[in-house]
Amino acid sequence: MARTTQNARRNRSRENARTSILATSMDDFLANQQRQDLLRFMTCGSVDDGKSTLIGRMLWEAQQIFDDQLAALASESRKYGTQGQNIDFALLVDGLVAEREQGITIDVAYRFFATSKRKFIVADTPGHEQYTRNMVTGASTADLAVLLVDARTGLLTQTRRHAYLASLMGLRHVALAINKMDLVGFDSTIYHEIQDAFEQFAKSLGFVSITAIPVSALLGDNITERSAHTPWYQGPTLLGYLDTVDVKRASECRMVFPVQWVNRPDANFRGFSGTVSQGEVKVGDEIRVTASGQTALVAEIVTMDGTLDKAQAGDAITLRLDREIDASRGDVMAVSSSPLEMTDQFEATLVWMHEDAGVTGRSYDLKLANQWVGTSMTSIRHRVNIDTLAQEACKQLRLNDIAVCNLATAKPIVFDAYERSRTLGSFILVDRFTHATVAAGMILHSLRRSQNVHRQVLSITRADRERLNGHRGKVIWFTGLSGSGKSTLANALEVELHGRGMRTYILDGDNVRQGLNKDLGFTEGDRVENIRRIAEVAKLMMDAGLIVMTAFISPYRREREMARELIGADNFVEVFVNTSLEVCERRDIKGLYKQARAGKIPNMTGINSPYEPPENPTLTVETGNQTVESLVKQLISHGSLISTPSS
Ligand code: ADX
Repeated sequence: MARTTQNARRNRSRENARTSILATSMDDFLANQQRQDLLRFMTCGSVDDGKSTLIGRMLWEAQQIFDDQLAALASESRKYGTQGQNIDFALLVDGLVAEREQGITIDVAYRFFATSKRKFIVADTPGHEQYTRNMVTGASTADLAVLLVDARTGLLTQTRRHAYLASLMGLRHVALAINKMDLVGFDSTIYHEIQDAFEQFAKSLGFVSITAIPVSALLGDNITERSAHTPWYQGPTLLGYLDTVDVKRASECRMVFPVQWVNRPDANFRGFSGTVSQGEVKVGDEIRVTASGQTALVAEIVTMDGTLDKAQAGDAITLRLDREIDASRGDVMAVSSSPLEMTDQFEATLVWMHEDAGVTGRSYDLKLANQWVGTSMTSIRHRVNIDTLAQEACKQLRLNDIAVCNLATAKPIVFDAYERSRTLGSFILVDRFTHATVAAGMILHSLRRSQNVHRQVLSITRADRERLNGHRGKVIWFTGLSGSGKSTLANALEVELHGRGMRTYILDGDNVRQGLNKDLGFTEGDRVENIRRIAEVAKLMMDAGLIVMTAFISPYRREREMARELIGADNFVEVFVNTSLEVCERRDIKGLYKQARAGKIPNMTGINSPYEPPENPTLTVETGNQTVESLVKQLISHGSLISTPSS
């Protein structure tokens, strides 16, 4: 029990860590990258290829292991190590003790070390398949991948998966560390075979450079010192390579300046403060506010240490402009000659990182640079089988799935394609209830469709129709188990309202599913889509001036919240028809529960598909021992159902 709680807590803190790693480091990434002396890289490869040993060896050779760590290492090597009485370098980088005991590393461990030429941050990511998300986290901040291969086994499925993921995450340089060369007698043929096979496989992955290096992480061959065992090898040592490799991205120089706040200390000064996230800006440059299109010249660049002629990625600055323009927090400025674009529909590669499935139609929060916006997947185009690179059809996204999807945002956001900008091309999706990061995404391109569709201004408005009707339009949203009495109640309520001269309509699950929604079944994804369509239709009918009653199980809180947001909290009355499963099952008007119990219905709500009761409904009605008339009275007497139109 205690252990479960502890694990749950640890998992939660990991979740948070992952969120913050992705969220902050993507923002900071370019700032770091521009500083020439810092290289961020990741290590990856199959489970037993020796990643931890390699990192431990690099730390050792770079003399960054402190005395107390050494003493601890010596004792732990004897306890947990795999090297007898010798030091096990792998233990330097493996994380928590529990994981050490299992002999595997999970989650991403960051290590820091330096040589005389550069500082390094290494993301050590685990090789196990189920930890793709950790690899994505590590890769999101790296400039380069050190991909390990065991010389004895050659390329494995895992090697290919990791190469694919590295390429997907925008890494353009790979050091192929062909490890354990000592165990194959430093045979050059083996080295060349692996190098050729990898180059062949990686042809379509778009790496700018692949540098194969024969090493023995355990013995130190070709790590810092050129190995006497590989006279046939003319290339650099691994650290020699890392010390000198040039990973600058020419295309990321377009200036991006997300406004953090408007700085107005007195009537004479007004400036826009924030950190340049990529490119550079000079005094005299014309800048453009992306959303409004307004332009102005940079009059002054102010920093804590005085003014600058030009500022670059990573600099915290305040821009004073030559004229007044409107911009506020969340706005993104660019240099006019390289403007940024906006989109509210785009295609992206998503890496699903959560146990809860990703389904089309469900709303998530999207974070891109400083922008937060509601979003949903409108379609899943295909999933990529990363072992074969084949494109597969797919209805929902599962943990570690990688898929190309279309997404729509509630309002336009400033963006760029990931291949041009990691800052403006990468985003995370966050669950609205649990705040867990559920996916990381890389934008491929905008879908232009939405730009050609414009809202038509019409003469008669909702208020006009409501005045004619003498009452406001509303949505009364009934939710509850099948057989709970939603339709019966909605029907009786409509009779009452109709009798009072009101304009009404009922959208009922069983009826709508015979027409508009006849293509939908009862999987999670289909139910999400069912409710999305109903929410949209109910909104239209409300706009037509009607009091709309919806009678759908609507089992998921997230979708009921989505409906509330879409329709507007003021117009939305959520009625929880709280009839217990026992009572519904006893009634079993349609015989569905019986069939479900007999295993004939796979996704029956309450039996083998969840129902999430509302946490804060406008009204809860208990149908167990009350008449329909008294329940209708209860509803009518609640002030929120009927209101007079504004004059
Ligand atoms: S919802 O979950 O997507 O909101 P909806 O209210 O449209 O469901 O449809 C529920 C009705 O479909 C039920 O009242 C019942 O008559 C019928 N039905 C058929 N199969 C199922 C099932 N597996 N689970 C629940 N209801 C089902």
